[in-house]
Amino acid sequence: MRGQDHSGLKRLRTPLASSLLGGLLVFICGAIYAQTAPQNPPQIVPRVTGAASPMGDVPAAPLARPVVDDKRLMRNYPEQPPIIPHSIDNYQLTLKTNRCLDCHRRQFTEGSGAPMISVTHFMDRDGQVLADVTPRRYFCTACHVQQTDAQPLVPSTFRDMLLVEPGKK
Ligand code: HEC
Ligand code: HEC
Repeated sequence: MRGQDHSGLKRLRTPLASSLLGGLLVFICGAIYAQTAPQNPPQIVPRVTGAASPMGDVPAAPLARPVVDDKRLMRNYPEQPPIIPHSIDNYQLTLKTNRCLDCHRRQFTEGSGAPMISVTHFMDRDGQVLADVTPRRYFCTACHVQQTDAQPLVPSTFRDMLLVEPGKK
């Protein structure tokens, strides 16, 4: 009886051990393949430096021209920070000076004609509305950007959500 018990345990043990060993083998082979397999796809995003050798001397391309038509553009989705439709050249934006607020702050909008920063710009992270711009929204250009005539590096397939037919991608 004892001998039978023993062999029964053995039979139970062996498949477990072999399946563990098999798993380990697959893992090791996978790791080796991952190390040696060619990187595929090779490079989806083009290098910002272009085709030129990154270590060589390359003349800087001229800066793209900013769009300054003063036309407030439609937003692509409700939460989009609107883009800046005017020039911001030499507008100082530091800890002590914020040129943007000279026009966009509530108390200056009547004179400047600029749209006031919206109420979200007054809210702290607890949703409390402050008397002035919240520190989280002080550095305007972290979210608002100018547009230029630069050509995009990669094509965009973005479509307005209202133009996408339901059920289609
Ligand atoms: C001299 C005043 C002035 C200054 C300084 C200024 N703006 Fe403006 N801004 C305006 C006016 C006026 C408009 C309305 C559109 C126009 O006339 O260009 C505007 C429009 C905008 C808009 C578009 C709002 C919308 O709803 O489409 C954004 C975003 C903006 N400004 C951000 C900025 C940022 C960021 C800075 C600082 C880097 C800045 N502005 C500095 C006057 C100013
Ligand atoms: C953290 C991102 C962020 C920062 C920083 C930020 N904004 Fe905005 N801004 C937004 C978003 C998002 C919207 C649109 C939704 C909304 O009003 O909250 C917006 C809207 C605006 C509008 C349009 C308001 C309206 O009622 O149409 C103006 C003008 C503006 N921002 C100016 C500024 C200025 C000036 C600063 C710097 C003092 C600034 N923003 C900083 C995200 C930001």
